[in-house]
Amino acid sequence: MNSGRNSRMVGFGSFAPDQAVDNLELCNRVDTSDEWIQTRTGIKSRRIASDHQPTSELALRAAQRAIESSGLKLGEIDLVIVATITPDMAFPSTACILQHKLGLGKVACFDIEAACSGFLYALDVADAMISSGRYRNALVVGAEKMSSIMDWQDRSTCVLFGDGAGAAVLSKDGEGPELLGFFCGADGSNPSLLCQPGGGSLNPATVDTVEERKHFLKMNGREIFKSAVRVMESASRELLGRHGLNVEDVSHVIPHQANVRIVESLSQRLEIPLMKFFCNLEKFGNTSAASIPLAFDEGLRKGHFKAGEIGLLVAFGAGLTWSSTLVRF
Ligand code: UT7
Repeated sequence: MNSGRNSRMVGFGSFAPDQAVDNLELCNRVDTSDEWIQTRTGIKSRRIASDHQPTSELALRAAQRAIESSGLKLGEIDLVIVATITPDMAFPSTACILQHKLGLGKVACFDIEAACSGFLYALDVADAMISSGRYRNALVVGAEKMSSIMDWQDRSTCVLFGDGAGAAVLSKDGEGPELLGFFCGADGSNPSLLCQPGGGSLNPATVDTVEERKHFLKMNGREIFKSAVRVMESASRELLGRHGLNVEDVSHVIPHQANVRIVESLSQRLEIPLMKFFCNLEKFGNTSAASIPLAFDEGLRKGHFKAGEIGLLVAFGAGLTWSSTLVRF
């Protein structure tokens, strides 16, 4: 193994379910408008998985594409990490379910739960495990079926989210975007800002919790908005600083795809021009842990990133959590 080398994303893939639901369709479900959703969020449409597509199925399709593009054999993958807040079941992990669906060997599998920052957290963990020398080739997936925890009577949340998955194969051998550095942080002081209160050990599922709609996502949008801009700016500056880089060195920012106004505010605060931000949230909405790999994969496939350029991936999510990753294409 090339122990002196940084890990690289030697394979990448993504998947979004076929069913696209545009804003006008949502107007049939809740009191909203295409104009409100577009001006407040930038979202035009989102993909919604079918009843037969749990999160592991979305993860499977993205993972197959990533492994195929890596050129590795299934038997060479020795670690699977899935970042999700919408696992198939509370346990076992979706990573274990994915391992079997892919036909992998009996390799280490676990989930990471860091909400929308989950994919970047998982990259950090996988890189550390590979750098330890104990694992060679890691499959890292961000996959969500957000529609499964949406309250379709709550217009303040149901218009925002969508389903999808993205996956990377990490290895020190082979070619692909090089992972230069990582930064993760969290503030657990106010979990109710964004949470799914029912179904855990605090509020186990009962007829009452279901009637009280506690199994759906709840969010204080305004507070999350303000925190998002603040923590994404600081996570970006912290990581750049640690690597002796300036904002001018960044050619591309691939931010968590939650709201175009959050991206615009981040662009202003970082003084990185908006044209350097890669966004596809108008098509997919907020897909939580899948949002960055869905955007990254689209940028890669479109040839948007040129060899040698520096990319900054930055996310925030429930927890609150935040994370940033630097790559060299
Ligand atoms: O991955 C992390 C997940 N979370 C986020 O990224 C969310 C961050 N927050 C946001 O993106 C924004 O706060 C929202 C898009 C959620 C909301 O935008 P806002 O500009 O902060 O709106 P608001 O919550 O201040 O609501 C403004 C008005 C309210 O009406 P009143 O009280 O002013 O009469 C809402 O009831 O907009 C109303 N409203 C809607 N109207 C039409 C809220 N949702 C809708 C809707 N359609 N879907």
